[in-house]
Parts: sequence; C-alpha cells; structure tokens
Amino acid sequence: AKADIGVYGLGTMGSALALNLADNGFQVAVTNRETDWIESFVAEAQDLQGNLVAKHDLQDFVDAIQTPRTILFMIPSGAPMDAMIETISPLLSEGDTIIDGGNADFNETIRRSKTFAGTGLHFVGMGVSGGEKGARFGPSMMVGGTDHSWSQLRPMAEAIAAKFEGNPCVAHLGPDGAGHFVKTVHNGIEYADMQMIAEIYGMLRDQGGQDAAAIGAVFGDWNTGPLQSYLIEASSAALHAIDEKTKQPVVDVILDKAGSKGTGRWTLIEALKLGQSASTIEAAMGARSWSSEKEMRSEAETLLAETTQAASVPSLSDLHDAMQAGRILGHAQGFRVLQAASDAFEWALDMSKIAEIWRAGCIIRSALLDELMDAFQNGLPHGHLILAPAMRETLAKTVPALRRVVAAAALSGQPMPALSAALVWYDTMALGRGTANMIQAQRDFFGHHGFARIDATGKHHGDWGEA
Ligand code: 6PG
Repeated sequence: AKADIGVYGLGTMGSALALNLADNGFQVAVTNRETDWIESFVAEAQDLQGNLVAKHDLQDFVDAIQTPRTILFMIPSGAPMDAMIETISPLLSEGDTIIDGGNADFNETIRRSKTFAGTGLHFVGMGVSGGEKGARFGPSMMVGGTDHSWSQLRPMAEAIAAKFEGNPCVAHLGPDGAGHFVKTVHNGIEYADMQMIAEIYGMLRDQGGQDAAAIGAVFGDWNTGPLQSYLIEASSAALHAIDEKTKQPVVDVILDKAGSKGTGRWTLIEALKLGQSASTIEAAMGARSWSSEKEMRSEAETLLAETTQAASVPSLSDLHDAMQAGRILGHAQGFRVLQAASDAFEWALDMSKIAEIWRAGCIIRSALLDELMDAFQNGLPHGHLILAPAMRETLAKTVPALRRVVAAAALSGQPMPALSAALVWYDTMALGRGTANMIQAQRDFFGHHGFARIDATGKHHGDWGEA
C-alpha cells in the first residue's frame, strides 16, 4: 500500500510529526536532504517501522505516496522552501498538496499560494505549535489553504493533534496565509506572556531577594489556579532545574541575552501595517533586543546616575493578579491584530475557533483560552475582548494590583516593559476623552492638517492667529 502522507525534513519538528503520524496508524513516507539522517531516524523509530517508508531519492519518495498526495515540508522557511517547491513540483500531479509546516512569513505564504493558482497543485501554510514534544504527542495546528487540501489533510491532522476534552486542536482557519498569520500572532502573544513572567521573576529576584527555587515554587503554586498555563508550568520547572557543572540553578548560569527568530517581529510589523499596535508584544520584542546589549548595560549600571526611590516589594498576591491582568491584555491585543488582519485580507477568521485550538498542544495553552473561547462565542462589545463581561470582571479585580506592581517597579527601577505597556493600553482604552485633540491641534497648527470638531461634521482648521 502507498503512504498516506510524505514528510520531507527530518529535523526536530519533522521527525516528531512523522513519528506522531506513524503512531496514529498512518503510512508515512519520509525523506531528508542529507540522506544520512534518514537511516538514523528510521533506526531510532524501531517500533513504528511498519508505518514508516524511508526514501533516499525524491522521485521514489513522491512515487511512494498515494494520490492525490499530501506532502508535509518541515524545512527552514524562506529560500529553502522556494527551492523545494521548484524541485518537487514537476514530479507531482493534479490535486497534490504541498504543506509548509514551518514558521513562515505569511506574506511569503500568500505569494507562494498565488504561484500555485491554476497549476492543479495546492499549497498550504500551516502553523505548528508545541515544540518537539507537542509535535510528537499532540501539537496545535493552524491550517491555511484550499478546502481541497483541508479535506485531504483533515483526518490525519485531527488524529495527531492535541485534544482538549476530546476535541482536536487543529482547524482550517482560512485561505493562503491565514494559518501562518495566526501562528505568527500566537508567537507574538507567546513573547508577551514570556516577558511578563520574566518581569515578575525579576521583581522577586532583584527586589524580593528570592532565589530561583523559591520563585519556581511561587509559579508552581500559581499554576494550580487561574494562571494555569504551559508557560507558567514550564517557568516553574525551569527555575527548579540544577546545572550539573556548577550545581547552581540553571537560570543563574544562563547569560541574560535573548534571541528571536522573527515571528514576534513580524507580528509587530503587520500590526503597524494594519493600523494597530500590539504594545505588549512590542515591549517583549524590545526587551529581547535590548538584552543583546549586554556589555553596554554592564557599564551603564555604573555610569548612569542612581535615580531610584524606595518602594515596597509587591505582595505575591499583587504579582499574581498583575500577571492575570497582563495576560488578558496581551491576548486582547493579539486577537485585535488577528481581527484587523481578518478584515483586511477577508479571511473571516473565527476567533472562537482560534481560542479553541489554542487550548491544548500549543505553547500559550492556558486556562484563560477556555474563557476567551466562551467570550468570543457570546460576542464582543465593540469587537474588544476587554469589554467581554467575564474579562471586565477579572480586570476590575486585577488591574488595581497591576497598577501597584507597575508603580513599585517604576520607583524601584525594576524594568517591567510588558506589564507597563499592558497597563498603559488599559488606561488608554478606558479613557473616553483622550488627548488626541492636542495632537490634532499641533498638526493643524504647524501643518494645516485639519481636524474634526466635537460639534460639527467635516474638516476644520483652528484660528491660530499670528502664532
Ligand atoms: C511554538 C513556538 C515555536 C518557537 C518559535 C519562536 O509555538 O511551538 O512558538 O514555534 O518557540 O520558533 O521562537 P523564537 O523565540 O526563537 O522566536
């Protein structure tokens, strides 16, 4: 019998997905550019060998897959994907689907999808979240592309996906770039959530004088309540881990410089293009970028004048509530970007569905997402999550703590860019009469840009006199 699917690319994610598929009873043809990887992969997967067909030659690989073919590529996004499309397309036939399961820029996915139109072949951009473990035992998957491809892929995707109360965490979210865009914003929210956790860790470490294990215990405790989430759980576990070489906590021997691969930055760029601003994600991205200036920061610590003031360390309960408020606000910004993209690209994204498939398998899975799904189902006032009754209620309880935490951070010089940005956004959106009238006055004063009046329609100019 021929294979149900082909997996090209046996790196960490590709191998894990191939094993997951084989585990679920599908026949999987596998191959890789460096052919020596194929042998070691198959040797490791002894139990599943009956379901794995290793091929060293691209034509043999293609021939081994049943038509219409479904071929999943797990290779670096960008130029390698374009090169592969060019190489493999002539070997394929009408109705076949190529899936890019990497973290691709959705603009590239749209571009690639366009080149497939009218060729009889199909292209799917699919976001896969959950890291190696997720891919192996149940990822969350965000699928773009045509209905034709989805009907081919669906039984396999639903079988291997993470399950939340029995429901598979995978969905066909829209055409062309929709799946990759949703994955990109998922990562943006991931960045903001990670940063907020790091900020609270910093407050406890630097102002509270607590060691890694103690902070790990705090997070472990939080993970049993409303903050329950993979990222809190992972942070707790990471804080408890000990470095074999030094017998110190691993976090204490890790250099404080963070990298990124692009998805967080793409979320911000696209948000700005869409007339949005995801300030919590921007803060998280900025924090990673600034972190890279390690040498400068080390000098600046002594060169810049001491300007901090005494402030009491926020209570654990305030830090907990600040994280809860910050998480809601970070997610609200991310979903706002998704809505703006959905409108601009006419994707008709189903926000409730997105929250639904993020409840298990992905990196940002959390108790909050289950609540968000309900909130979307009930409809959002003015399209804003922060106005959903359940969110308003939680924010009313937690924003006062966020305020105290950010205030203490500001006085004591403890940087909290993401939590501060969350609070600023909350305050901005909660202010019926803002200060943009002053911006408009300045614009008209020096540039004759015109402004709208509160008491008349149309465009007006100020009587600025000779000033
Ligand atoms: C996931 C992760 C995963 C990875 C990204 C972001 O959903 O499984 O988001 O895709 O962590 O590559 O990594 P960077 O932090 O390096 O940008």
